[in-house]
Amino acid sequence: MPPTRRYFIETFGCQMNVNDSEKVAGLLQADGYEPAAAQEEADFVFINTCAVREKAAEKLFSSLGRLKQLKAVKPELKVGVGGCVAQLQGTSILERAPHVDVLVGTHNIARVPDLAREPTYGETRVDLDRRADTFTIPDEAVAHTSSVRAYVTAIEGCNHVCSFCVVPRTRGPEVCRAPEAIVAEVESLVARGFAEVMLLGQTVNAYQHSGLDFAALLARVHAVRGLERLRFTTSHPSEVTPGMAASFRDLDRLCPYLHLPVQSGSDRVLDAMRRGYTRGLYLEKIAMLRAARPDLAISSDIITGYPGETEAEFEETVSLVDEVGFDGLFVFTYSPRPGTTALRERDDVPEAEKKRRLHVLNNRQQRAQRVRNEGLVGTTQRVLVDHVDGPRLSGRTPHFRIVHFDGPEDWKGRVVDVEITHGGPNSLVGHAVQSVSENDRVGILLS
Ligand code: SAH
Ligand code: F3S
Repeated sequence: MPPTRRYFIETFGCQMNVNDSEKVAGLLQADGYEPAAAQEEADFVFINTCAVREKAAEKLFSSLGRLKQLKAVKPELKVGVGGCVAQLQGTSILERAPHVDVLVGTHNIARVPDLAREPTYGETRVDLDRRADTFTIPDEAVAHTSSVRAYVTAIEGCNHVCSFCVVPRTRGPEVCRAPEAIVAEVESLVARGFAEVMLLGQTVNAYQHSGLDFAALLARVHAVRGLERLRFTTSHPSEVTPGMAASFRDLDRLCPYLHLPVQSGSDRVLDAMRRGYTRGLYLEKIAMLRAARPDLAISSDIITGYPGETEAEFEETVSLVDEVGFDGLFVFTYSPRPGTTALRERDDVPEAEKKRRLHVLNNRQQRAQRVRNEGLVGTTQRVLVDHVDGPRLSGRTPHFRIVHFDGPEDWKGRVVDVEITHGGPNSLVGHAVQSVSENDRVGILLS
């Protein structure tokens, strides 16, 4: 019997990339590979890259630097690169890193096992074909990282034209997956014991397929018997519809949590970013959602130091953050990206000032989260356990808040009622009062 081949995957970036890596892992396993615990033990190392900010993109080259050294002592090691940097920079990556054996674009991950198997004779095997259909990978081939929460792709690509964003270039225009395929995958995941499904897309709420919009898709997936929790990410404010708000009102297993990137609170900056909405419109959407689901937790993304952003415009972002009261906030300093229209504007906010603004927002948000989480002390939260570390368990509430508590290992994947005893800025701590598996609707009362 030939020796087992081992693979190692390093993933940068968003949930879409995590899901792509799960697909590559599954395909490699189907091809006879086994996972390696570390890069040093692997025969094939695959790096799934992110191009959204320059820092993220540069991580590829530090990884490749390490792998070059590894290859010097282990020449048979094969190195693969995929994802957004691969699509964006193409074969120019090979000028800096000729030791890459396999180079695939965002549409070609299904080819990874084939390309990794073929002898390279010192030549890189390349597939950057943007027209390839990525929905052909069989559901069973996806090696899900978590045994509790599964990512399910609903849309690939993005049709928006945000001035700062490289994603439409790297992932191409939107392609929606057939609803039957999505529902079938969710049914199969539930049958395999997954409690929660998260539908994915760069702008998942733009979903349109054979007359079905996103709200209709949510209803279809929600109807899958045995599914305990349904989530989705990421949404664009322009595509938040009354139908989507009604879904939050009517679908009881749709979790009351929404990630809704706003980017800025200034109309001038939003217009320059080509986001397609104003501050007022964003706030109206939030009001509509909260009217339908008053406890809806909303998180957001913000960019500081966009070209020309004045102190007064930044203050408008601060005031928007205060006004909305986000449940979570991801703040980034503006990073000029190749091929984006924002390159026409001068990157004139000094780096130190971009960072100062980022810290202002982060500090405010941390304080607000601490206050909110302290307010949850004494409440009972329904926690879906997704991590076990000895007697320490952790999981998420329906509002996506992290809760730590003690309990037996076999509670992983179950919904447990936890009374909150402590609230920090980023998580809650508590103790179990009751274990309820909503799958079989049996409650076990603990003494
Ligand atoms: N719709 C996507 C957005 C992808 S990028 C999604 O699924 O999340 C994620 C976030 O990175 C964006 O919301 C934005 O806040 C930030 N970002 C994108 N391009 C950026 C850039 N050039 N500089 C700084 N931050 C950026
Ligand atoms: Fe990027 Fe804007 Fe699409 S942030 S992913 S172009 S919605």
